[in-house]
Amino acid sequence: MRVRNWLFDLWREVSEAHGFEAYDAPVVEHEELYIRKAGEEITGQIYSFEDKSGRRLALRPEMTPSLARMVLQKGSGLRFPVKWYAVPQCWRYERMTRGRKREHFQWNVDIFGVAGVNAEAELLAVLTSFFRRVGLGPEDVGVKISSRRVLQSVLEDLGVTDEQFAPVCVLVDKLEKMPREQLEADFAALGLAPGVVDRIIETLGIQDLDALASVLGEEHPAVTELRALWSLAEAYGYADWLQLDASIVRGLAYYTGTVFEAFDRGASLRAVCGGGRYDRLLSTFGGRDVPAVGFGFGDVVILELLKDKGRLPVLERGIDDVVTAWRAELHPAAVEVATHLRAAGRRVDLVLDDKKVKAAFKHAARVDAARLVLVAPDEWAKGEVTVKDLRLGQQQTVRLDALS
Ligand code: HAM
Repeated sequence: MRVRNWLFDLWREVSEAHGFEAYDAPVVEHEELYIRKAGEEITGQIYSFEDKSGRRLALRPEMTPSLARMVLQKGSGLRFPVKWYAVPQCWRYERMTRGRKREHFQWNVDIFGVAGVNAEAELLAVLTSFFRRVGLGPEDVGVKISSRRVLQSVLEDLGVTDEQFAPVCVLVDKLEKMPREQLEADFAALGLAPGVVDRIIETLGIQDLDALASVLGEEHPAVTELRALWSLAEAYGYADWLQLDASIVRGLAYYTGTVFEAFDRGASLRAVCGGGRYDRLLSTFGGRDVPAVGFGFGDVVILELLKDKGRLPVLERGIDDVVTAWRAELHPAAVEVATHLRAAGRRVDLVLDDKKVKAAFKHAARVDAARLVLVAPDEWAKGEVTVKDLRLGQQQTVRLDALS
């Protein structure tokens, strides 16, 4: 819990340092909020159930649909752009592997109401600031970026329709995990002609902006957007973290534009986080679309990565004073001392059981307290206590009213 709180506090601090505001949503939602028909992995991983009134409900596997639902409900009452963050717990029936668990906490940072890459650039600033705060640099972690418009453009030329596009992206996301024959069969089932797979693979191999421009043309929106994003990255000072990689499409159906993923350069772990632009999610819920972009960042992979790199902090309990009575009759006096110190803002662990003084010293060392405050009969009769500074090893007698 100490490590988790440390991580969550940093997520909150970094979000708020960039002007994002916290939100929350219910853990349980209507299952239909997550039902999309593009064959996404996540659809098969939902923990769902029927409640007493026969409604199909689900434990949220991700936060984005709840967020979109809330933005939709608030409607024009919201002042755009909306910049919100949350650290929700999410549940997915996944095969448990290193970095993937059946429940995890996921930092979500999203912007609604900004159509251009200024939003993406700000989100990447949040992301890279966080990495810097935990001591990771561009030599440890990179961010792969692409745009779904790249693949969309190539597929349009090949006659792939709008309806086919999302399921094709979901399939492309599985490209590396699936044997070629299976892929071709799945693409064929979507109605794609043979040969399309080759073109897709060729396109996904693009790894720099000039190569992309030569395939799509300098004026293509995906090219101009990505170039604009890179020049903002220079202005922010994180361009060395970024890497164009057209093979990034991401496995969720709702992304429409920029997509990105942070990865560990040691390449031993799954994606550290992932996100993208989803300008058309609200209309799938029957509302008017608002441009949106964001990312989700799980607690599992980052903690593994920090552990591997020896960058997890050693966190003490943070106790200032251990207060103990010389013997049981003096416990009420020790309570008075502890109450006095707590009122002064110190973090105080009052010994509650009838410990010998020696054991209280051992306990204070174990919890790494700064001081041990001992209430002994003769001093207490004069309104005094014994204070031992455990760092300096010095001991003195102090009047309770002068103790702070
Ligand atoms: P996602 O790629 O499904 O995206 O998940 C985002 C991140 O959540 C992953 O990169 C990983 O860090 C973490 N994660 C996901 N599943 C697990 C798991 N089973 N165990 C541990 N960590 C996990 C989304 O969920 C999108 N809703 C993100 C988003 C927000 N896009 C826009 N805004």
